[in-house]
Amino acid sequence: MPQLQLNYINGRWTEPRSGQSFERENPATGECLGRFPDSGREDVAAAVEAAASAFESWRFTPAPRRAEILFGAAELMRERKEELARGVTVEMGKVLAEARGDVQEAIDMTYFLAGEGRRQSGLTAPSELPDKLCLTLRQPHGVVAAITPWNFPMAIPCWKLMPALVLGNTVVFKPSPYSPLSAANLVHILEEAGLPPGVLNLLFGGDQAGARLVEEPRVAMVSFTGSLEVGREIAAYCARYGKRVHLELGGKNAIIVLDDANIDLAIEGSVWSAFGTTGQRCTAASRMIVQDRVAPAFTEKLVARAEALVLGDGLDPATDVGPVVNRQQLEKIERYMEIGRDEGASIACGGARATGDGLDRGYFFEPTVFVDARPSMRVAQEEIFGPVTTVLTCSDLEAAIEINNGVQYGLVSAIFTSDMSKALRAMERLSTGIVYLNAGTIGAEVQLPFGGTRGTGNGHREAGQAALDSYSEWKSVYIDYSGRLQKAQIDRHAGDEARSG
Ligand code: UN1
Repeated sequence: MPQLQLNYINGRWTEPRSGQSFERENPATGECLGRFPDSGREDVAAAVEAAASAFESWRFTPAPRRAEILFGAAELMRERKEELARGVTVEMGKVLAEARGDVQEAIDMTYFLAGEGRRQSGLTAPSELPDKLCLTLRQPHGVVAAITPWNFPMAIPCWKLMPALVLGNTVVFKPSPYSPLSAANLVHILEEAGLPPGVLNLLFGGDQAGARLVEEPRVAMVSFTGSLEVGREIAAYCARYGKRVHLELGGKNAIIVLDDANIDLAIEGSVWSAFGTTGQRCTAASRMIVQDRVAPAFTEKLVARAEALVLGDGLDPATDVGPVVNRQQLEKIERYMEIGRDEGASIACGGARATGDGLDRGYFFEPTVFVDARPSMRVAQEEIFGPVTTVLTCSDLEAAIEINNGVQYGLVSAIFTSDMSKALRAMERLSTGIVYLNAGTIGAEVQLPFGGTRGTGNGHREAGQAALDSYSEWKSVYIDYSGRLQKAQIDRHAGDEARSG
């Protein structure tokens, strides 16, 4: 049996009290990568206890000092980028070039938020009364539970941990059981960078461990990226018990291609956005909304490009598309082939597991394009999270916008057109949290808010300065140095009475 990796609680790498564990395999090869704790109730309680005890001293550590630790962690990630990227590829399958991008996004986010150590600015405003000052302070929530997915195992934890920490929260981090290695690598780096014991705690485990963590009374805030179903359960629980909650629950993102678009550029953007990361991004383009006149040529080119993509182990430089993350995902994608066919859509390419050439050892699915589809079909409405996209046609921009906005998610939309007026009209009317003009749907940068409307989230944003609002709340402070009791709204200027007659 492979050696057991350990939880990290109160500054110590610790055996799970649950006595339970799980193994993670490389999804490209089936090779076992290690054994990890399946944390139980006592482990969760110990991690939360450690985070709660560390909170007072961490929140009163000056923010620039907290930020120096983050800065040091970013430096270490930069030094170890290649090793960290390989860790990402072997455990969740994305090709090495994209794994490097994942690590780079983690580094960028960590530097960006380290800068907030000397900002996290608030407001000063004049008072309506003399000799009185009004200002605001950001306050941390307390213990934050960060529950993260496997598809960006370095970047997404940094989106959550770094703002939480720089603002003075303490954290219990529960990564997906499909990406435990990267989580351990990240926590080792933060430990080495000097994070004090208890400030960040790592618990391995599955849904049960996540649910117990959410339910711990001392967890003040939950930040969750994952499925709509689980996110809504977490939100309902948090509403009942008055916890803060941040949700990012995926998308059904579209690329709109109008008649006047640069079609070759639109194809590049579409192939990258539909099949990059094997389609396993919240931001993946799983719908192509193409204007009638260019639809046949666009579809033909898209299918030809999809068929030419090389599947394989993400460590092999010849690979374009890696495996999907696990057997359940593979089976889910297969079920959508049936669903699409039953609804009357046709499969123009792909549509099955990929086998042969060593692919049988892993979870490979052929890049797939559905055609003859309608916007109301399940394949055009539900998040499949695999290398699958659906072509829909539209008569004009208005129809395209209506199709784009007609899903329960609202993360990203993109439009290719050479008409500036149409591009700007679309920018205003596409009802997603992120819009791209003449680019695909993936590749958000860390300095802007990231998140979506409708079912994608609950109004919060990650990344950029918007992250600060999710991981802190405002305290408004009034300082009265007049030496007398002044009554706001009641003590008025001497001229007031005269004016009001
Ligand atoms: C995700 O898939 O959840 O914009 C995150 C992008 C990446 C982040 C994706 N920077 O595609």
